[in-house]
Amino acid sequence: MSALITFEGCEGVGKSTQIQKLATWLRERGQDVLITREPGGSAIAESIRRILLDGKNTAMTAECEALLYAAARVQHLKEIVQPALERGATVLCDRYVHSSLAYQGYGRGLGTEYVRSVNAYALENFMPDCTVFFDLPPELGFARKKGADADDRMETAGLAFHDRVYAGYLAQKAMFPDTFEVVDANGTIDEIFERVLAVLDKHGLIG
Ligand code: TYD
Repeated sequence: MSALITFEGCEGVGKSTQIQKLATWLRERGQDVLITREPGGSAIAESIRRILLDGKNTAMTAECEALLYAAARVQHLKEIVQPALERGATVLCDRYVHSSLAYQGYGRGLGTEYVRSVNAYALENFMPDCTVFFDLPPELGFARKKGADADDRMETAGLAFHDRVYAGYLAQKAMFPDTFEVVDANGTIDEIFERVLAVLDKHGLIG
């Protein structure tokens, strides 16, 4: 069944583990599944990712950052995601526009209107069928991953920044009431996975 499911969360919430587990689960049930990620997922978008995350790029403005994330997103959408959806795949994408709303809109303080309009222009409002937000405060996420990666421009932006990002995520439940699902990311891998399945089942997305 063709569907776009995106996954969101602060650093270290365990998104990739859950995405891998879900892909295995869906494939065992005969579904064509594509796992991909943002920023990146295609050669051009991966090049943009390197610019965005390079710890040496300290002079990058918030506006440049938001536009580069949107540029990587539209390239990845047109080159990878939409063709996969057209052939009937279930696409599991690690991050999407909700990351930009949280990180650039709230974290960098650009505001959600700015980020929404930049992305609406780039994406022509193409939105996922469901977004799973793994809810874990940044303090706990960084503790799980044993601190920020020293070379990563976003991870090293400071705890106050990541606290704003977290608040920006929580605010999105009200912005996207039909598709933005909050999943408690406290618990064992299996417990969290059961919560993910329950949410996707509610949306009719797992068969
Ligand atoms: P990612 O590789 O998913 O990091 P992680 O493995 O920690 O989840 O994403 C790279 C970083 O880019 C991450 O710090 C979040 C940030 N980001 C934004 O700030 N805006 C965006 O639109 C996206 C997609 C990611």
